[in-house]
Amino acid sequence: MDKMTVDPSKSIPAFYAGQSILLTGGTGFLGKVFIEKVLRSCPDVREIFLLMRPKKGLSIKERLSKILNLPLFEKLREERPSNFEKLIVISGDASEKNMGLSATDRQMLVERVTIIIHAAASVRFNNSLKYAIFANTRATRDICILAQNMKNLIALVYVSTAFAHMNEPFVDEKVYLPIADWQKIIEIVETSDEHTLNVFTAKCLDYAPNTYIFSKNLAEKVIQDYSSSLPCAIVRPSIVASTFQEPFPGWLDNVYGPIGITIGAGKGIIRVMYTNGTINEDFVPVDIVIKIVIIVTWKVGLTTYDHSITDSAPLIVNCTSIKYFTYQDCANVMYTIANEVPFEATVWTPYVIFTPNFVLFYILTMLLHILPAILIDLILKFTGHQPMLVQLQRRVYVASCAVSYFTFHELKCNNANRLTLMSLVPQDNVASFFFDVSTFDIRTYCKNCAIGAKKFLLHEDMNRLDAAKAHNKRVYLLVTIVKTITFIGLLWIIYKWIFFGTL
Ligand SMILES: NC(=O)c1ccc[n+]([C@@H]2O[C@H](COP(=O)([O-])OP(=O)(O)OC[C@H]3O[C@@H](n4cnc5c(N)ncnc54)[C@H](OP(=O)(O)O)[C@@H]3O)[C@@H](O)[C@H]2O)c1
Repeated sequence: MDKMTVDPSKSIPAFYAGQSILLTGGTGFLGKVFIEKVLRSCPDVREIFLLMRPKKGLSIKERLSKILNLPLFEKLREERPSNFEKLIVISGDASEKNMGLSATDRQMLVERVTIIIHAAASVRFNNSLKYAIFANTRATRDICILAQNMKNLIALVYVSTAFAHMNEPFVDEKVYLPIADWQKIIEIVETSDEHTLNVFTAKCLDYAPNTYIFSKNLAEKVIQDYSSSLPCAIVRPSIVASTFQEPFPGWLDNVYGPIGITIGAGKGIIRVMYTNGTINEDFVPVDIVIKIVIIVTWKVGLTTYDHSITDSAPLIVNCTSIKYFTYQDCANVMYTIANEVPFEATVWTPYVIFTPNFVLFYILTMLLHILPAILIDLILKFTGHQPMLVQLQRRVYVASCAVSYFTFHELKCNNANRLTLMSLVPQDNVASFFFDVSTFDIRTYCKNCAIGAKKFLLHEDMNRLDAAKAHNKRVYLLVTIVKTITFIGLLWIIYKWIFFGTL
């Protein structure tokens, strides 16, 4: 990392003082944690513009006030309530050309913004190619074009994904050759009809597991191409999981990734997964990702770039596992935690079979997911409740297949830039921006994740733990009875078949 010399006298909060940040993706998982951390730990930041779109009948202002009422912001509300006023919503849509910005907003951003954090992305794996390219690749190009017009820009940090280069056996902190030419792909999706695009999508997916990865892979090259004229960096997280420490352990707002499996398994709904259990699960807590984004921005902002002579490579920082655990290790830890912090309304005792064999996975899905779901749905129906488990298990199956590419491929990444950056954190800022990997204990982290999932996703009352434990004892008894009956039944069938040649 040759451009790593920074002015150590410039502390991180001092650097952010007076800066105007444009954040895309502020309503998302990472975006919310970024807002919270910057307003709390870099309190003299001038303002944060949030590019947002209306959603689910809520205007952008209503969306922001709903977000700011989340428990995530309680600490900030106590410590620096006036800093919420630094948030300014801007209407925009990443899937539209030029981010759907009005001329007035655009001009204001050009005049005032000094830092861009581009984290907006459509993260759905099954988006149409057109939508994924528009929201993830073309939007990145349009952010770069906007950045080029900005009068005082000192840093543009793009949040990519470590999975953008899964075909590489070892992901280095450099830009790789893209799967395709991003300019041509944007032109194709802008001009082709739906049928042509469907055929074309199939071809693209020969090179990437889904349209999300394809579009993110191309977006990295966009950043590289613009980095000859812009101070750019790319941060590549792997799977982003619940907070490790800040503002408190265990916060999260979505069921994607390991926590979805934890909830599904903890409730006894997920009992088989199409995964190689011996593969290391690559996840990184969201507050660590955000600290890295903040430090990378600080580094880029303090580096003097002479675009006429320097190379055009952006600073790239892989942000992957801080400690390695296999899927099986994590599951084993979660089983013990399930006894201490059980989920409510469990339908089976938590136990997941990991299998890399698709036929076995399919058979076990039918036996352990679909059949019991049909039975339970029938009971629900006849007792006047809404059946839902078959529908849920369908979604579990689709999700399990969709993520299997990631759970079979172990990420191997260079994290040298991350380590160098952490070593550059000024002594005065260590408490706020450094993270000590040696204090990361998987059991404590998983327990906090389970508590966080109960509180913030499932809205379960932590005072009802005893009732949940009592329910689980009854489920355990039921499971033992069902298993015993099944075992005796099987023995009976084998006995009849061997001795009487009949079933
Ligand atoms: N979470 C992970 O495990 C993970 C791992 C690696 C990389 N990343 C990257 O990290 C970034 C943030 O991800 P996340 O986990 O925070 O995702 P997220 O929770 O789904 O949030 C995505 C954000 O992007 C915004 N967005 C999506 N489409 C948009 C559009 N058309 N116009 C305007 N805004 C739009 C969303 O706004 P709305 O609220 O309006 O939808 C939301 O604010 C993404 O670039 C993602 O690729 C995430």
